[in-house]
Amino acid sequence: MTFKNHRGRVAIALLALAGLAGPTFAQDIKVGLVAPFSGPFAEYGKQMHAGIKAYQKQHGDSVAGRKIVFVVRDTTGPVPELAKRFSQELVTREKVDFLAGYGFTPEALAAAPVAEQAKIPMVVMNAAGTTAVAKSAYSVRFSNTLPQVAAPMGRWAKQNGIGNVVTLVADFTPGIEAETSFKESFSKAGGQVVESMRVPLDSKDLTPYIQRIKDRKPQAVFMWLPAGDMTISIIKRFRERGLAEAGIKLIATGDLTDDHLLPAMGEEAVGLVTTYHYSMAHDSPENIAFKKAFKEANLESGRPNFMTIAAYDGTAAIYEVVRRLNGKIEGDKAMGVLKNIKLTSPRGPIQIDPATRDVVQTVYVRRVERVNGQLENVEFSKFNNINAKGE
Ligand code: PHB
Repeated sequence: MTFKNHRGRVAIALLALAGLAGPTFAQDIKVGLVAPFSGPFAEYGKQMHAGIKAYQKQHGDSVAGRKIVFVVRDTTGPVPELAKRFSQELVTREKVDFLAGYGFTPEALAAAPVAEQAKIPMVVMNAAGTTAVAKSAYSVRFSNTLPQVAAPMGRWAKQNGIGNVVTLVADFTPGIEAETSFKESFSKAGGQVVESMRVPLDSKDLTPYIQRIKDRKPQAVFMWLPAGDMTISIIKRFRERGLAEAGIKLIATGDLTDDHLLPAMGEEAVGLVTTYHYSMAHDSPENIAFKKAFKEANLESGRPNFMTIAAYDGTAAIYEVVRRLNGKIEGDKAMGVLKNIKLTSPRGPIQIDPATRDVVQTVYVRRVERVNGQLENVEFSKFNNINAKGE
């Protein structure tokens, strides 16, 4: 029997049958999970769900006597209108206690007013554009911001002998933020961005951009593209066209070398240096336990990535709210807890900054290497306590 959709009615019917009275039966806590589960970015939703399942594998599906139930909606995204409509429907019809997920910044931006108006906490599990969370006081983010991961790369690149760079980003909010924040920190450190290219999100052929970079001959190209087919294909084009042989380095945020996609990228990814907050190869007892739970709970899935970990930590935060409020969720009180969450995450220690509702965390510098036959983002340096601005 499922209590998922008709929980109240079924529970009342059972109580009536048993001759019991009163509204004291335990009700589920409902969390709406809004993300792409089909289309080119279907992995975003699947990885988030896998992170939630890993958390529930370790900690059970109930807290404070209440079962935590996830109600899934597929935006097929990025489709901001659907993200908004589903969020609205989850609040009004499903009466969810939390909204969660949001793979893309434009989707989170579209849904933010729904959370704000209904005073429902919105737990962002990927969207990384700064404005996505700034837009609603009921929004909190467990992933990262673009400046948080791109600005450290600007500093690292200059410190490591790179003086001039061409940037190449996807032409929408997160890409533009990555470009801007990289440029700012790199210039401040004394580097020079000689050209900035923006590519449409639906670009099929990235070869002309790669050729233009080759002709421009910078010391490096800094890239930001959403994890998926574009990142796999740009790495292939970069190798095919001989940019590495021409002395051009490829640097990026960790979206480019997504742990989940590394096997599909193969040997061509080896040697790439990126900055990011999570690597599957992170060496900590929490990460080992997380990977074990991920495997046990998701036998059909590949490897966990940054979205899995953000969903895992976001779920930990939801559990903490339910525990602290003893199962009686109220928007403002829930935000009071969420704004001050501190966790020992599988990525390392994390803490929500109450002023921005964003994570303060370690940003690691990593290089793709083959370790025991597997491709991994091996961490070799780090920037501690980096905030949403990348400082
Ligand atoms: C975003 O839309 O904020 C976004 C999309 C894909 C990523 C990271 C961030 O890999």
